[in-house]
Amino acid sequence: MKLTANELREKYLRFFESKGHTIISGASVIPENDPTVLFTTAGMHPLVPYLLGQKHPAGTRLTDVQKCVRTGDIDAVGDPAHLTFFEMLGNWSLNDYFKKEAIAWSFEFLTKELGFKPEQINVTVFAGEEGIPRDDEAIAIWKSLGIADDHIFPSPREDNWWGPAGQTGPCGPDTEMFIDTGKEKCSEHCRPGCHCGKYIEIWNDVFMQYNKTEDGRYEPLGRHNVDTGMGVERTICMMNGYPTVFETELFTPIIAKIRELATAENLEAESRTKAERIIADHLRTSVFILGDPKQSVKPGNLGANYVLRRLIRRSVRYAKMLALKPGYCEAIAEVVIGEYRHVYPELEQNRETVLRELRDEVARFEKTLEQGEREFNKIASVMKEHGQTQISGKTAFKLYDTYGFPLEFTVELATEQGMTVDREGYEAAFNKHQELSKQNAGTFHGGLADHSEVITRMHTATHLLHAALHKVLGPTALQKGSNITAERLRFDFTWPEKMTPEQIQQVEDLVNEQIKKAVPVVKTMTTLEAAKAEGATALFTAKYGEQVSMYTIGDFSKEVCGGPHVQNTSELGGFKILKEQSSSAGVRRIKAVIGNMK
Ligand code: SER
Repeated sequence: MKLTANELREKYLRFFESKGHTIISGASVIPENDPTVLFTTAGMHPLVPYLLGQKHPAGTRLTDVQKCVRTGDIDAVGDPAHLTFFEMLGNWSLNDYFKKEAIAWSFEFLTKELGFKPEQINVTVFAGEEGIPRDDEAIAIWKSLGIADDHIFPSPREDNWWGPAGQTGPCGPDTEMFIDTGKEKCSEHCRPGCHCGKYIEIWNDVFMQYNKTEDGRYEPLGRHNVDTGMGVERTICMMNGYPTVFETELFTPIIAKIRELATAENLEAESRTKAERIIADHLRTSVFILGDPKQSVKPGNLGANYVLRRLIRRSVRYAKMLALKPGYCEAIAEVVIGEYRHVYPELEQNRETVLRELRDEVARFEKTLEQGEREFNKIASVMKEHGQTQISGKTAFKLYDTYGFPLEFTVELATEQGMTVDREGYEAAFNKHQELSKQNAGTFHGGLADHSEVITRMHTATHLLHAALHKVLGPTALQKGSNITAERLRFDFTWPEKMTPEQIQQVEDLVNEQIKKAVPVVKTMTTLEAAKAEGATALFTAKYGEQVSMYTIGDFSKEVCGGPHVQNTSELGGFKILKEQSSSAGVRRIKAVIGNMK
């Protein structure tokens, strides 16, 4: 069946309306109440308070279309199915119906409304793990609907556990629906979840019965919610039998505009396609961020602002590669606004801001690139005077680091002058820099640090602090509470008196020693009993035999915790205790920061 995005949105909302759902409006793409994420990444996100138990004014069955931004795998954009912006159709049960209805309706919608054949549908279900059984209920429901045994794939937590969206919140096991594109399997191990492009995931039903707490525990929610999400772009791509999302009508006008503006000749087809896709994706996302009703994100150096800057600047680089005519950015943005304004009128309302911000950011970046080009020409002429023809890796890296020159630019300019570039040397300089900036990551120089990355680092710092307190004060200095923001960590522990300045210094030194030693942080799955037997600190209880994750930092710290943590202590940069004070009777409080302490 052929279907447009407009028709799909309409069909989906009407279908769930006919099943007793209230159609609600999607929310801003910039989250309201969750400081742990930069953008709304799923339809459930704005509904978190209701999934946790607050009463929703529209009832217990909801459906909507939500604008989502996910920049986690920005580098995957260009492949057949990854996008940084997408629309998610969703239906929710707030402690109302559960698995049976959710799965049956998903199946009915896919087969009756969208016309997929049952044999095209493959599903994954939670395979279970020690302490949590396999989701046999979901398997039985899928079978009863006519999905064959060999189309049902039990999968581990990595694949079939969804959420929370940020660091904390509702989550649970899920069942994902994939469409078989009919392509050959890439290997005998190919199955839904494989990225070769045979199976494309289009929908996910999450059974949310858990809440992840700040200290990393999964506590029962005491409610049975359903949260589902269907990707609009991928679904219409599958329905129309297109090879990639970029062939759908949501992208063809944008790509057509890019082609119209492109003046580069002699570009390999593959590079051209990749550039077109990246520009189309990144500028579409930028238009939605800049056009959002909240109007709170502008290109800049921190957090969401930085993500936006990166999207725009990345598209400028690829625009250069295609030699797009001047004014391309606004021209492309106009197409995006035109294509979407009937669904998202805010884009039209904020049209001027969107165009102005794009224009300004492109101009700023182009100026930097021009300075880089002048610098390049200077270097090149000095080299020529000395009869040298190869640009060193170090120079190429400097052009990248200072002027944002991607290597391909430098190579292009060099070729024009009959010169070459030491690519290997560039890679080496690049890797060396990565290492160094990892070590200095705590400084947040240039605002490169994503909010959630900062929190992750703080989290690891908390483990180091806890272990250091044990070493300096003894095992009775036990964690009572912890609170992390992007600016500082706060740690409460049992201790009867004020710590001496020497003790504070010792604790700080111990933590810094571990950071300097660049110790890997290793995660293992085990049971609580086994972890404790190994001497791990564990702040929560778990059912006997239940799998828990344990984080080990050399021989310094071993703690059972939900994570996430950094890979290596060097990522913390440094550690400093700002304050040691009383919290309550018998409990002390430490406030500390991480980063490069200059
Ligand atoms: N929250 C789930 C997801 O993003 C279902 O929408 O996959």
